[in-house]
Amino acid sequence: MHHFHYREGELCCEDVGIRAIAEEVGTPFYLYSRATLTRHFRAFDEAFAGTPHLLCYSAKANSGMAVIKTLADLGCGLDIVSGGELYRGLAAGVTPQKIVYSGVGKTAGEIDFALTKGILQFNVESFDELAVIDARARELGKTAPVALRVNPDVDPKTHPYISTGLKKNKFGIAKEYALDFYRKAASLGNIKPTGVTFHIGSQITQTGPFVEAVQSMAPIVAALRESGLSIQYLDVGGGLGISYDNEAPPLPGEYAAAIRQAMAGIDLTVIAEPGRAIVGNAGILVTRVLYEKEGPAKKFLVVDAGMNDLLRPSIYGAYHAVWPVRKTEGEITADVVGPICESGDFLAKDRKMAAARPGDLLAVMSAGAYGMSMSSNYNSRPRAAEIMVSENRFVVVRQRETYEDLVRGESAFS
Ligand code: LLP
Repeated sequence: MHHFHYREGELCCEDVGIRAIAEEVGTPFYLYSRATLTRHFRAFDEAFAGTPHLLCYSAKANSGMAVIKTLADLGCGLDIVSGGELYRGLAAGVTPQKIVYSGVGKTAGEIDFALTKGILQFNVESFDELAVIDARARELGKTAPVALRVNPDVDPKTHPYISTGLKKNKFGIAKEYALDFYRKAASLGNIKPTGVTFHIGSQITQTGPFVEAVQSMAPIVAALRESGLSIQYLDVGGGLGISYDNEAPPLPGEYAAAIRQAMAGIDLTVIAEPGRAIVGNAGILVTRVLYEKEGPAKKFLVVDAGMNDLLRPSIYGAYHAVWPVRKTEGEITADVVGPICESGDFLAKDRKMAAARPGDLLAVMSAGAYGMSMSSNYNSRPRAAEIMVSENRFVVVRQRETYEDLVRGESAFS
């Protein structure tokens, strides 16, 4: 569900015509609907109503301050994977006690930052990391709350690059070592075990893998209780998919119901870390057609956004629908490509789409998650502007980068 729709043939975000925004701010730009973000947060929150829970939006999906602040104002917490995301979260007003910190490679400096701010939980991915967190906490006179990230060896049935809960993946610690981990954790002076966590992958379109993962936590929680250790949180990670094309992923209510059912006997507070399902369909990328090019093999539409703006089609072969900003007559089949000097620079391939000509605006749909957050300056392209709409108002929430921004901090060798 989202708030991008046509009114008299013109694509609008909530009550704002997208063409007017393009005229004012230029292209390309990311555009977010605040109402969609709010709606998605509420859908998750209501889905878990009746079960003690905390939603920690996964900042990596879109770490824009406006997105994080919109969610924080609704009471949402944050799942972070770097000092930078912690900084952004705090700056956007997220309560430290609602922040969980995941990731396999936290540095001592990042750990210190999180300890000093008093975050809710470190989701720990290795014995080495546990030792460093303990040492840093001792140094700072703190106790670090930790959850073990268990690798449950569950196949999430998604793209291999975004599968994370299989034995062969770098994430978490195998179930077999879980009890050793907690024993070790409990024996360390500056560690307090608070939870157990997993994250099996992303863009998961069925409930089965989540159920399997939750069920595999039950024996661990039971064994901990038996050995006199108690924990408070079951963090089920993120991963719920969205509809890019014709996928039909479970709704938040179905997802939450499946998790609750699988938790039978595990009376822990649930933490969930949705990213894509909150922001994916709340954002689009708006780009303008520069040129039309009819090759011997196919037709190309060259647009002013490229793989540096939206990397997903290039690296995952991901599908993003392309809609005309003003409805047109007729249909074409074309590759929608960017200006970057790589053949992998495409936003859509062999796509049957509404006819479009140079000067027309196109909306690349479902680009709110892992769009701007994975963008780069490749080919020395300034990063796109970001706009947020609420009802009939739009705000530039991130200025388009300038050429001066591109070279900031650089100097010639001398
Ligand atoms: N929690 C942890 C520990 C994660 O690693 C992730 C995503 C999430 C939560 C949020 O997952 P979500 O609800 O968004 O599926 N760049 C890829 C996706 C990478 C996901 C990485 N981890 C893409 O564009 O599809």
